[in-house]
Amino acid sequence: MSDTTSIKHPSGLTSGDFTAAEEPFALFAEWFAEASGSEPNDPNAMALATVDADGLPDVRMVLMKGYDSHGFVFYSHKASQKGREIAGNPKAALLFHWKSLRRQVRVRGSVTPVSDAEADAYFATRSKQSQIGAWASKQSQPLESRFAFEQAIAGVAAKHLIGEVPRPPGWSGWRITPIRFEFWHDRPFRLHDRIEFRRDTPAHPWTKTRLYP
Ligand SMILES: Cc1cc2nc3c(=O)[nH]c(=O)nc-3n(C[C@H](O)[C@H](O)[C@H](O)COP(=O)(O)O)c2cc1C
Repeated sequence: MSDTTSIKHPSGLTSGDFTAAEEPFALFAEWFAEASGSEPNDPNAMALATVDADGLPDVRMVLMKGYDSHGFVFYSHKASQKGREIAGNPKAALLFHWKSLRRQVRVRGSVTPVSDAEADAYFATRSKQSQIGAWASKQSQPLESRFAFEQAIAGVAAKHLIGEVPRPPGWSGWRITPIRFEFWHDRPFRLHDRIEFRRDTPAHPWTKTRLYP
């Protein structure tokens, strides 16, 4: 792609103008809305990085299931590798990469569990098959065979032929509350635009800095 500065934002700004933003959540909302219209699938897919007990980083994709000024929410199994890493060190980094827009957003912050009520409300919106799968999966544990998993799924499904499937106690959500954001947009000849928002704690105001590419 050549000069990406001609891409229009919903606000009418051109993409080059995003560096004028004064607040990261509104800018994220604008970019996410655009990505939702241009990505072939899963504009809410984000890489989630955590560290293990040895400080060794780990990263995997998850789906962002909500965001507001308090942070970004995803759901998973508490006993999974990521769940254990977060329990040991409740800090994380996120990365959104929207190839269709040639943009990335980086986020760093602390992680807190969502409330049971919030997790219940989201779990209730999932398809029954996904709800059953959440019960049947021992996420990140060794699995002897696909057949063993299918048997576990059939067992859970048989228990819930009628009625609602409750949320498994070991399945819930987490919220990453940012203290750092970075917005990056491709520009010709690798002369990309980057702006960073930092704050010492979520109670502090944001400081914005433009960065060299
Ligand atoms: C696009 C995409 C979205 C995913 N979304 C989730 C998710 O929301 N929650 C989840 O537990 N795993 C999700 N996964 C699977 C994870 O990447 C990962 O394989 C799994 O959570 C186990 O990770 P862990 O062993 O580090 O805990 C997703 C994978 C992809 C490729």
